[in-house]
Amino acid sequence: RVVAVILVGGPTKGTRFRPLSLNIPKPLFPLAGQPMVHHPISACKRIPHLVQIYLIGFYEEREFLLYVSSISNELKVPVRYLREDKPHGSAGGLYNFRDFIMEDNPSNIVMLNCDVCCSFPLPDLLEAHKRYGGMGTILVSKVSAESANQFGELVADPVTNELLHYAEKPETFVSDRINCGVYIFTPDIFSAIQGVSNERKDRATMRRVSSFEALQSATKTLPTDFVRLDQDILSPLAGKKQLYTYETLDFWEQIKTPGMSLRCSALYLSQFRYTYPHLLASGDGTKSATIIGDVYIHPSAKVHPLAKIGPNVSISANARIGAGVRLISCIILDDVEVKEHALVIHSIVGWKSSIGRWSRVEGGGDYTAKLGITILGEAVTVEDEVVVKNCIVLPNKTLNVRVQEEIIL
Ligand code: GDD
Ligand code: GTP
Repeated sequence: RVVAVILVGGPTKGTRFRPLSLNIPKPLFPLAGQPMVHHPISACKRIPHLVQIYLIGFYEEREFLLYVSSISNELKVPVRYLREDKPHGSAGGLYNFRDFIMEDNPSNIVMLNCDVCCSFPLPDLLEAHKRYGGMGTILVSKVSAESANQFGELVADPVTNELLHYAEKPETFVSDRINCGVYIFTPDIFSAIQGVSNERKDRATMRRVSSFEALQSATKTLPTDFVRLDQDILSPLAGKKQLYTYETLDFWEQIKTPGMSLRCSALYLSQFRYTYPHLLASGDGTKSATIIGDVYIHPSAKVHPLAKIGPNVSISANARIGAGVRLISCIILDDVEVKEHALVIHSIVGWKSSIGRWSRVEGGGDYTAKLGITILGEAVTVEDEVVVKNCIVLPNKTLNVRVQEEIIL
């Protein structure tokens, strides 16, 4: 039996995702028309003998209620949200709910970060994990040497795939092989986390004996129940024949910023060609708009037949797209209106926003730059014939003159 756990974080995380995470928990932000967390969840469905999926986070329960009940019905696998009273770190969060997780008596636990985008080769990862026979197996990807320091860098034995060395976001280069934030563990992981927590308790007690030392290190110590998977577990267990790696050659990206969500939306849309082709707009029939490349259109959205859409466009519920509109590489959220002959390119248009006739909302298309795309927060109005270029616009603003390379607060 296998139980899957997806770490979703909480309202104090995902700050780089603002202003989009002001309206909705980042894990529920739509990529390719589906909530971010939906992609790993539907990948879990392919794991043999999967009995339960838990989402663990410190958002309010009600934020996930609707999604969790609809996805449970759809997948026919129970999906449940478990709320931490405070952040416990990525390993502490798992440990906090060990009783729930062990209820199903799983032989393996699949654990995923919700903010990674990849093909989630979980059945292959599970097979490899069983072959290695260790306590855990980490999904690994090769990235450019320049970008590796944003992730956990690791070194594995080329023959046995054993994890030999692990450094979380190191200052000096270790390796271009990085931790994808996708793991499989046996239940022994709980003893490893318990061990770290106990060690902390012992150290805290020793410090109480010497109050001078306590003063010195008070700022450096973490609460005993706050345990990070990467620094506190993976790093010390490297080279001890307990952890192994499995490298994926498919796409892999991390989703920390709105720019990256646009890039990941494109990756998931192109994956739909193989996994869920019925979700892609076909553009067939005289009443349909012209569709170019991979496009998702929610069934409730109204798109004028004289609009031209794609590639990499996703249009959410109740959006209205007028005649002569051109949409390229963008995410149009719920209840947006794009009026006649407007252009939207490399941009994310927030809920209930309105874009006027003949206006242009543009980004430069560098998804990793701070102002590489344009983001309109909720209920932003761009008036007719206005150009907005490489801007971040906070909710409820009205733009009636040209703006460029600006954050509009
Ligand atoms: N429930 C819960 N509780 N979730 C948490 C907590 C917590 O206290 N802290 C973090 N998370 C969730 C985040 O929402 C995210 O999904 C995941 O755990 C990892 O977040 P971070 O711990 O902030 O790490 P990171 O995303 O900067 O880096 C990690 O992931 C990379 C891959 O994307 C590291 O493990 C890197 O080594 C790795 O390369
Ligand atoms: P998660 O998305 O859940 O990991 O957290 P977060 O994005 O809310 O993290 P937060 O923005 O609080 O910052 C985490 C770390 O990344 C801190 O050390 C920040 O200084 C750093 N950081 C924040 N914003 C950026 C950014 O735009 N680029 C880079 N490279 N680092 C950043």
